[in-house]
Amino acid sequence: MKTSLFGRVRLGYVLVESEKLDQWERFGAEGLGMQAERLGEHALGFRIDAHLRRLIVTRGPAEDVQALGWQVDDEAALAEIERRLALCGIALHTGSEADAILRGVLRFVRFTGPKGQPIELFVHARTPPSAPRVRGGGFVTGASGMGHVAITTREPEAALAFWQDIFDARVSDYIEDKLDGVQMDFTFLHLNERHHSVAIASTRKPRMDPIRTRIHHLNLQAAEFDDVADALLRCRQLGFEIANSIGQHPNDRELSFYVVTPSGFEMELGWRPCLVPQDQPWTTTVYQGISRWGHFPENLTRANKLRRVGRALLSMTRTEQTLNTRAIHEHP
Ligand SMILES: [Fe+2]
Repeated sequence: MKTSLFGRVRLGYVLVESEKLDQWERFGAEGLGMQAERLGEHALGFRIDAHLRRLIVTRGPAEDVQALGWQVDDEAALAEIERRLALCGIALHTGSEADAILRGVLRFVRFTGPKGQPIELFVHARTPPSAPRVRGGGFVTGASGMGHVAITTREPEAALAFWQDIFDARVSDYIEDKLDGVQMDFTFLHLNERHHSVAIASTRKPRMDPIRTRIHHLNLQAAEFDDVADALLRCRQLGFEIANSIGQHPNDRELSFYVVTPSGFEMELGWRPCLVPQDQPWTTTVYQGISRWGHFPENLTRANKLRRVGRALLSMTRTEQTLNTRAIHEHP
């Protein structure tokens, strides 16, 4: 019998692989204001709240996200996810003790999601007794998790079905926009009261994926607007590339800016996104335009544009990995 997972899953941590640990430390600690911790020669951990780790960077050549870690309320919810994955023939692997320690969790399991994206699941995070040493007012996490990820895909229907079928994600709203002359569709999914934990972005046909990395951006929520403005100024002064200066999205109304991480995907730091109230009616709106105002692109150089076009065209020659979750409907 299918039990609902809505409200029981949240973004827990993000694991990155990079050769640029020094740059990441400067970016995360001095730029964004997170607490950095060197974990030996080859890894770096960041703390922003009660959890020991929210962002982990291990040394390696990928310059990309290696896994998205999702926190699940309890063992019963985890068992339900495992049941659904098993129905779909998706294999789960238990992570090693050393890898669990690295991630700051007690235990985790791992499987390969859409687009070959490794997805990890855990119930209990390690929570040290000390308070996190972060700049300003800190970060907003709690029951709705550490923020959101935006993922580009050439298979948006399959990606949406995956998040809806496996995690009971619900559509918050849609945005349509023409970016760089290409018509884009964005679907925003909430897994809990956070307006979205996952955003799925795709080009309207022909389907292309101009993004090299597994996510377009990771969003973190700052407690105060001043923290967003201060971080923008610090990142700019430290020489990190600002992708979009401060602006506001029409749907979650978050005020945010986007900065390019040392690994090439972007980090969005925002303030006060709206929640999707669960006890009141919610109208699913289709918005026109990704931003109400601002978000002025600062790094749209000719070279960057050409790189994107090249990657978009190249992506059409490859098949993107999808997961078939239809079995869940046949065996509810
Ligand atoms: Fe975002």
